[in-house]
Amino acid sequence: MILFINTCVRPASRTLWLAQRVLERIKGDREILEIKPDNTPLDYSMLEYRTKLSEREDFSDPLFNDAKIFSEAEEILIAAPFWDLSFPAILKNYIEAINIVGLTFKYLPDGQPLGLCKAKRLIYVTTAGGKIFNEAYGYGYIKDLAENFYGIPIVKLIKAEGLDIIGANVTEILNDAEKNIAL
Ligand SMILES: Cc1cc2nc3c(=O)[nH]c(=O)nc-3n(C[C@H](O)[C@H](O)[C@H](O)COP(=O)(O)O)c2cc1C
Repeated sequence: MILFINTCVRPASRTLWLAQRVLERIKGDREILEIKPDNTPLDYSMLEYRTKLSEREDFSDPLFNDAKIFSEAEEILIAAPFWDLSFPAILKNYIEAINIVGLTFKYLPDGQPLGLCKAKRLIYVTTAGGKIFNEAYGYGYIKDLAENFYGIPIVKLIKAEGLDIIGANVTEILNDAEKNIAL
């Protein structure tokens, strides 16, 4: 199963368009599970409740469903527009929901995280109005999580930039980005 995490907000999203081009190339005959995350930020009572359950390793509550699905996926595709040097907050809320000790990762005695996810590859698709002059807060953050927490060895970025620059030929930029998809 390919888990397609669609965090695009605008109905005519260019990021979603590019992600769909990636999906066409990778899907083969695999099932695609597309989700549009709507997780709320963790508040104190939710955090207390969740911590109590995960300390008992009782993952039966539906609040753990996102983490279970993420850890079981064969491959993961994230579509996220470049917002404020990063990505929409709904993706951060989703990450808070899936980072569960005992499901997506665990800690080794020396404090190092060990990934518990099955996926061998995570592909991150983004588009930006200007240039992505620093990847650290968007793709870089997801790549670090994938490699260091989830144990996903291959992490790829597919992007299109400069879409909102005055005079930009949006169709050409997107078509070039599609041609340059390297997986
Ligand atoms: C809330 C918001 C924040 C944005 N922040 C940035 C930014 O920091 N840098 C940038 O180059 N473009 C920024 N943009 C422009 C988007 O990255 C660009 O329009 C992108 O293609 C939107 O993707 P979409 O068509 O999938 O919605 C922002 C757009 C929005 C709506």
